Amino acid sequence: MKKIFAVLSTLIVLSCFSCAKKNDVVKMGTNAAFPPFEWIEGSEVVGFDIAVSHLIARDYGRPLKVVDMNFDGLIAALQSGSIDFIAAGMTATDERRKYVDFSEPYYSSRQTIIARADTNDISSIADLKGRVVGVQAGTTGEGYVNEEIDGATVKSFRTVIDAALALKNGAIDSIVIDELPAKEIVKRNAELKIIDDDFLTDEYAIAVRKGNSDLLDSINKTIKTIKENGVYQKLSDAYMPLDGNVKILSADEL
Ligand code: ARG
Repeated sequence: MKKIFAVLSTLIVLSCFSCAKKNDVVKMGTNAAFPPFEWIEGSEVVGFDIAVSHLIARDYGRPLKVVDMNFDGLIAALQSGSIDFIAAGMTATDERRKYVDFSEPYYSSRQTIIARADTNDISSIADLKGRVVGVQAGTTGEGYVNEEIDGATVKSFRTVIDAALALKNGAIDSIVIDELPAKEIVKRNAELKIIDDDFLTDEYAIAVRKGNSDLLDSINKTIKTIKENGVYQKLSDAYMPLDGNVKILSADEL
């Protein structure tokens, strides 16, 4: 009898443990100044990555909590356990792979250049030599300009939106940042323009803590499923529409 009780109580403890875990939120970290992937609309963080994260959390069976922070603090936050995954238009680089595990890529991007609309002496990345170039701290664009552009004075900003302000008021000559956020920023600022050049591609992926294969497998499954069942296309149509009119999808429209 005693034995049965012991077994029963262990079972109860175990099952309650897993039900408590089920209700625990899964925390996604991002830097919400990177439209159309993530930005703040009213008091809410919205965007393509947020929509994907809702689907990830749903498949993983946990409520989602979005944590907005500086881009260059995301990997440390993941390592310390204050977030569980990163969805921030983050490029899967070999350097970052030393600290995190990446999902399958979910978006192919490239870097581009923003300048003031009246600039006529910058037509390619080579023209940034000796210029003042704004970048977002911790990004692949920052690394590229530091390593590849001779004599450029690199100014790192907390967000690309801060960099755009500096560009408008003449503190910097240009910005190097991912293409779609660049386009969104130019769309919102008539005094800025894009300078089209092909110099660096980026494959975006979701990052998890090293060894967290339980979550990583689930994320990879979600990415595969939405690419196959049309949901990925629906998200692209909403957040990256050809006519430029971005539509925000609520969690229950996904
Ligand atoms: N793709 C670039 C990188 O991984 C920039 C990402 C910036 N993301 C953001 N949410 N601010 O370095």
